[in-house]
Amino acid sequence: MALYLNNAATTWPKPDCVPEAMAAFLRTGGANLARGSAASRDLSTLDLVTTCRERVSSLLGGHAGGDPRYVTFTANVTESLNVVLKGLLRPGMRVLTSSMEHNGVVRPLRRLEAEGVRLEVLPCSPEGFLAPRTLEEALREPADLAVLSHGSNVCGALQDLDALAPLCARAKVPLVLDAAQTAGVVPLDAARWDLGALCFTGHKGLMGPQGVGGILWRPDLAERCAPFVEGGTGSFSHEETQPTTLPDKFEAGTPNLPGIAGLAAALEWLAGTGIEVVAEREHRLGARLLAGLLAVPGLTLHGPRDGSNRLSVFALNLAGWDNGTLALELSDRYGIESRPGLHCSPLAHRTLGTFPQGALRLSPGYFNTPEEMDRTVRALEELAREGR
Ligand SMILES: Cc1ncc(COP(=O)(O)O)c(C=O)c1O
Repeated sequence: MALYLNNAATTWPKPDCVPEAMAAFLRTGGANLARGSAASRDLSTLDLVTTCRERVSSLLGGHAGGDPRYVTFTANVTESLNVVLKGLLRPGMRVLTSSMEHNGVVRPLRRLEAEGVRLEVLPCSPEGFLAPRTLEEALREPADLAVLSHGSNVCGALQDLDALAPLCARAKVPLVLDAAQTAGVVPLDAARWDLGALCFTGHKGLMGPQGVGGILWRPDLAERCAPFVEGGTGSFSHEETQPTTLPDKFEAGTPNLPGIAGLAAALEWLAGTGIEVVAEREHRLGARLLAGLLAVPGLTLHGPRDGSNRLSVFALNLAGWDNGTLALELSDRYGIESRPGLHCSPLAHRTLGTFPQGALRLSPGYFNTPEEMDRTVRALEELAREGR
């Protein structure tokens, strides 16, 4: 039977309510958003989308008392980051980021750098942490924006936002958070951290389907940010220019409504289960796996070696094995699904010392069991003995 340890790529399985809500929307709902006659099915769609915005804001600590207008839906966190970064940064501006970022941050920033934005990549430790002192020093010079990923998709290192966010707030530099790996897995509070924008994807820890993500805005940043996509919004149809009011400003074109239906159901499930419960379960599974991995002969763990300040995302190499071959062997012989390679994160792998060979990533999730952690360790022990 398949043993899924690739939850950092996308969580699986989803709670049953997610596919059920998506099917129900397509079967019996199905009206477009703000593009009907205010019939009851039109109103149900509006209610569904507003409810989903409210749930996002409530779960992630939205600004302005959780005003749902400040939740923008996108296709994924990559689109969210592109909207925010390309909508705010102009030639001559200075932006800070870390050396642990995913290409979802790095590639838009490199494009902007080529167009004249001053990009500064702050070095992280070989375990993947950004020291508050490094950020503090960089903030001595005026900056226009900082963008950081909260939790590493490669090695699980969790940045200390309680220390980092206040430094940005004090310097009045808006902080954009890539919460791809932490939303739904770690309690988040955008308002308390004074985040300029929290970018999320629906299909990882939030337990929703692929194809929906979003931005939780601080109102002043949403006002300053130029929209990336312009077009029909179902509102202000007499105007030939993009509305400036939210949420319409950033949501031209028909949204992924079945995806939003799935995400709304997933968020209800998460709220009912409790983020703390999810976090505690994943932490326990991770701690069990970590203890086992550290005892496998010839196994090198990259990133944090202890259970604190980390997600249950582990990067490793096994002596004598190419990590791609190892992933295939785990899958073919043991049914264990993992992810080898560079994880769309060359900069992070350089920081960890694993570029260009990469690493094998194991990422358990809420629906895994302790026995599955033990099975994985036994499989790696066997493969370590065999070598390749
Ligand atoms: C830290 C981080 N940022 C960005 C992304 C991109 O996510 P998506 O493909 O959902 O846009 C990922 C996904 O792996 C990620 O882990």
